[in-house]
Formats: sequence, structure tokens, C-alpha cells
Amino acid sequence: MTIPQSKQNEKRIFSGIQPTGNLHLGNYLGAIKNWVKLQEDFSSIFSIVDLHAITVPQEPLQLRASIHEVTAAIIASGIDINKSILFNQSSVKEHSELAWIFNCVCRIGWLNRMTQFKEKAGKNRENATVGLYSYPVLMAADILLYKATHVPVGDDQKQHIELARDIASSFNNMFTLDNENNFFSLPEPQIFGPATRVMSLRDGTKKMSKSDPSDASRINLTDTKEEISSKIKKAKTDPNPLPETVDELKKRPEAFNLLNIYSSLSNQTLDKTVENFVGKGFSHFKPKLIELAVENLNPISSEMRYLLKDTKAIDKILKTGEIKARQIAEPVLQDVKSLVGLIN
Ligand code: TYM
Repeated sequence: MTIPQSKQNEKRIFSGIQPTGNLHLGNYLGAIKNWVKLQEDFSSIFSIVDLHAITVPQEPLQLRASIHEVTAAIIASGIDINKSILFNQSSVKEHSELAWIFNCVCRIGWLNRMTQFKEKAGKNRENATVGLYSYPVLMAADILLYKATHVPVGDDQKQHIELARDIASSFNNMFTLDNENNFFSLPEPQIFGPATRVMSLRDGTKKMSKSDPSDASRINLTDTKEEISSKIKKAKTDPNPLPETVDELKKRPEAFNLLNIYSSLSNQTLDKTVENFVGKGFSHFKPKLIELAVENLNPISSEMRYLLKDTKAIDKILKTGEIKARQIAEPVLQDVKSLVGLIN
């Protein structure tokens, strides 16, 4: 992905991650690894989105611990708090206020289309919380509160960003007085790299997810060398040697997933990976993948363990981030309120 030099100053990145359960390889390759690259060139804001986490039941002590863990994981993966703003969502109250205003812009019909709500609510939709239903509205508020132009995420968040664009555009139509200068620009999703959708190690047709009951389906950022090795050894595959082309590989979901993971971890294209392993069996490929995964993930998990020894220091980092985030968020919310006709 290349962004022309002349455009770079106009860009602002926002992205978030939920503090629920263990972060896994999908979160790392689909999102955080890209954030680390983008922070070098763009003004970047990253948030631990705790208000999103409470849309499904959470154990309070566990939630608090997860906020620390996810913060540690993001820093250990390479987010530099001197370059990027890193903060906890609920500490900037403007997120909730803007979300309410957007609740009054967003249409029920738009939310009814959200596939992630359907998946998460499952069959018992009547029993899902209103928070889970309007979750994408809060997500739009997260992004637009900073007038972010680009949102680096994994493939599963694309529909939510499209909704944020619809909300921004509708707000502009309803409240921007001058058509030439829309209040919000429409945020672009940034979905790039070979691992935009990392799949379960047990089923190549299912997304790798924190909520999968089988821990063997995912590689957690906190997994030991032995756990990584055993999960990859047991990962589902097929009996055939690796093919010559990406098109043939795509017909084999588990093989496709593992080669995509390899490509992303080694920073090479999928074509190159296919070329490297053509004709080889999984008994040859898996040890190479284990070696690469351990080499990439071990430094992250040891740095995480080190950071988590001092949770007060993590709180301080989040506090600094909160102050910086507020400086951007407050005036944007004030402008929104004036446009809507509310008294500040
Ligand atoms: P969350 O916490 O589920 O996931 C965090 C990031 O990880 C990506 N991701 C994956 N990428 C590739 N393969 C996978 N298997 C995989 N699983 C997760 C997600 O796409 C995401 O980028 N709604 C968001 C959090 C959020 C947000 C925002 C994101 C709240 N506000 C504003 C961007 C902007 C979520 O639940 O992500």
C-alpha cells in the first residue's frame, strides 16, 4: 500500500481493538502490524475500546486486566507512544456523547444490515443488548470524533466503516451549512497485507477469533514457544503437496490460510511464498512456519510480560494518551453540538 507523499500530511489514522480475551495472530497480522508501519508516516490514534467490550457480558475484574494486557500487547508489538496517541476509550467521554448524536442520524435499516451483529447475537436476537445492536454507531463516533481519514483494520470491519461513511455523509447533508466544506470527510478503510482475514487453525473457513471456544483454533500473542509449535503441528491441513499457483491454493482453505500467515510474518507476497514451497508437503512447511511464528511472536510476549509487571506505568501511559486524545476530541464535539443546535 502506498500513499502519495503529497497526501500524507492530510491523513489521520484511527483504529481500535477490544479488550476482550487474548489478542491473537489475526489481531496482530490484520491490524496491529499495519498500525506499526503507518505510525511512521501519519498522525495516528489507537484506542483500547472498552465501551465496545461491554456490549456483551464481561467480568469486571477480567475486563480491567484485559485493558492492561491489550495496552501492553500494542506497545510490545511496536506502537511508539511518542509517535502515536494510545488511550482507553471510556476515559474520553466525548465518544459516548458523539455516539448518541449519531444514534439520532443513523437509520435502523442501516443497522439491520450489519452481519457482525447477526453473527454475535446468534439465534437469540431478542435477548442481545441494545449496545450490541448500536455498536457500529459508537464505532463511527470513535473514528469521526478525530476526523480520521483512514482506518486500518482487518477485513471483518469493512462493513462497519462503510456505515461510518454513511453516518458522516448523512450528518453532512443534515447539518453542514456550506456544501463545499463538508464537516466530516468520509473515512477510508485500509485493509492490506496478505493476512486481512486470518482463519481458524481448526477450520479454514472460519475466522480466527477470541470467542472461539477452542484455544487450539488460534495463536495467542501470549502463547509460549511450545504452545505455538503444538498448535501449528495440529493445525488442520490436507494430504496434498503445496501447489504451483495462488489460484490452486485458494481452493484449499487451510493451506491458503497457513501460507498467508507465513507470507505476512515474513513480509513477502503470497506469490513468493507459493514459489518457495511448491511441491513440498506440510511436514516440510509446518516446521518453517513454527520457526517463523516463534521468531516473530516470542519477543512480543516477553515484552508484554515485562510491561505487565508495572500496571501503574501502563495507567500512566493511558492517561497521557487520554489528555492528547481529548485535545482533538473536545473541539470536534463542540462544533458538532453547535451544528446540531445544542447549547455547549
Ligand atoms: P476487534 O477487537 O474484534 O479486532 C481488532 C482488529 O483485529 C482485526 N481482526 C482480524 N484481522 C484479520 N484476521 C482475523 N481473524 C481478525 N480478527 C480480528 C479486526 O479487523 C480489527 O481491526 N469493532 C472493532 C474495534 C473498533 C474499531 C473502532 C476499529 C471499535 N472502534 C474504530 C477501527 C475503528 C473490533 O471489534 O475489533
